[in-house]
Amino acid sequence: MNKETEKLVADLDLTRLPQHVAIIMDGNGRWAKQRHRPRLYGHRAGAKSVRKVVELAGELYIPHLTVYAFSTENWTRPQNEVSGLFKLLMEYLNKDIDELHRKNVNVRIIGSPERVDQDYLSKAHKITSRTWNNTGLSFNVLFNYGGRQEITDAFKAMAEALLSNKLKPTDINSALISQFLYTKDIPDPDLVIRTSGELRLSNFLIWQTAYSEIYVTETLWPDFDKNELVKALKDYQSRKRRFGGVDD
Ligand code: FPP
Repeated sequence: MNKETEKLVADLDLTRLPQHVAIIMDGNGRWAKQRHRPRLYGHRAGAKSVRKVVELAGELYIPHLTVYAFSTENWTRPQNEVSGLFKLLMEYLNKDIDELHRKNVNVRIIGSPERVDQDYLSKAHKITSRTWNNTGLSFNVLFNYGGRQEITDAFKAMAEALLSNKLKPTDINSALISQFLYTKDIPDPDLVIRTSGELRLSNFLIWQTAYSEIYVTETLWPDFDKNELVKALKDYQSRKRRFGGVDD
């Protein structure tokens, strides 16, 4: 951490950090366009920002960090961008896994297996599986992820469980539904960060973000760095979370 980041961190209450930070990394395309470069150039720069936030989350002992790397809607992008994003994730995993493992990070790729090449998925899982016993930062990469797809899959699994009498309708409650989601082992995000100024959730963890605090910055994702993350954490600490109740 450099001196400037240290100074900003000194102003945080380290006992009141979010337990789970989830990020919608937006603005790679615009960042590239400003530089008259192809969109993939922006995504590559975006991977560098991912490294920075993973590092700082680890340094601050934030337990869970989730990033939205490819949505079920992103398939409609030009073919070369889609394949470029797949390639970029694999490159990132191959390149960074040793260091992530050394830093005790537990890396998971989370999403729907639909449409994704089986070999690709097994390769990604094989690379990340080395880290699954790690006890440090849990770092979740949402890839081929969509909130509605996840809830649809949960409905299907619940219907199967009902039909085979493993579940009764009266067993169904909010905690049980959470257990049928891809994210069943991960607490709901306390803080959702969206870059590039867009004010929407874009099918991101739509069940899990019911009570998340949302922070939107105009900064484009490739420009998002450790200092930007500390600013978001500081803003989070100024919020009063009432979860639908009233102040004491
Ligand atoms: C949204 O920006 C970004 C994405 C769809 C992809 C995010 C992917 C990365 C940052 C790649 C690296 C990921 C990992 C985990 C190594 P956009 O393309 O929609 O930007 P725009 O709205 O400006 O066009």
